[in-house]
Amino acid sequence: MKRRQFIKTGLVGTFAAGMTSMSLLKGRDCDTTNPDILGPYWSEDHPYRIILANSDEPGTRIFISGTVKANDCETPIQNGVVDVWHANDNGCYTVFQECDTGNSDDDPYNLRGKMLTNENGEYAFESIWPGYYATRPKHFHYKITTPNGLELVTQCYFEGDPQVTEQWEADHPGQIIPLGEGENGLIGIFDIVMDEEEIQAGINGETVPLPEKPVLRQAYPNPFNNSTRIEFSISGPGHVSIGIYDIKGKWITSIVENHLSNGTHSFNWKGIDATGNPVSSGSYLVVLKYAGFTASKKIVFLK
Ligand SMILES: [Fe+2]
Repeated sequence: MKRRQFIKTGLVGTFAAGMTSMSLLKGRDCDTTNPDILGPYWSEDHPYRIILANSDEPGTRIFISGTVKANDCETPIQNGVVDVWHANDNGCYTVFQECDTGNSDDDPYNLRGKMLTNENGEYAFESIWPGYYATRPKHFHYKITTPNGLELVTQCYFEGDPQVTEQWEADHPGQIIPLGEGENGLIGIFDIVMDEEEIQAGINGETVPLPEKPVLRQAYPNPFNNSTRIEFSISGPGHVSIGIYDIKGKWITSIVENHLSNGTHSFNWKGIDATGNPVSSGSYLVVLKYAGFTASKKIVFLK
């Protein structure tokens, strides 16, 4: 199938038709997917897309798909966010490193992208096979967030990679996937089972209430010229992301990117951007994301 037809047909549909026999869910117990390290190269605000690599990006084309399911290994999780980032053919990560690649569009998020799972819990993307760096095997980084706010950070590796030692295999159960050869490149399936237990039922089987909209209070002081306190409350434990944006929507820095307990929390922002430099005077937005909700407040920084 030609590349354009492949995309037109739909990445998920194409994979689902021919590759289900490779599904990792078959032939193993219903284990939740093993978590792995986030690593230093995750960045905020990856764009939503299914083709992560520009067409002239050097490297072997690769097509990855899979299904995100709840911990019964059956219930598909729809509208889960599958966030993927990886190294280029030379083991270089955009955003954090100067990468000499085929990134002719100067895309700051080259080789990074988010997808939403469909009604069958499926996701799929096209990119290039990541290169090596340090002594790590080739890998894709994943951060999956369910609509309930449950988050899993993991990675997938590849069978036959000489860097995947026996010890590595033992330490990363269910994360090492086989690759097949397709007409346009390598094809692999990485299925993900989320540990939805804490959302679906409590320890004694009682239903846990769904998370409610978070409360983001106005930062104090505001305007500020030294430090301002950002306070918010969440109704249940979950992943919280708080970013600072300028009024044009450009991301400035991240204040929180963490799993937090329910209740009230507060963090300070000192008017410093992600590279450690003071921002210029003006209006900024505090944007809180939690359990599929978004809340924002305007703050003013005066030098
Ligand atoms: Fe990595």
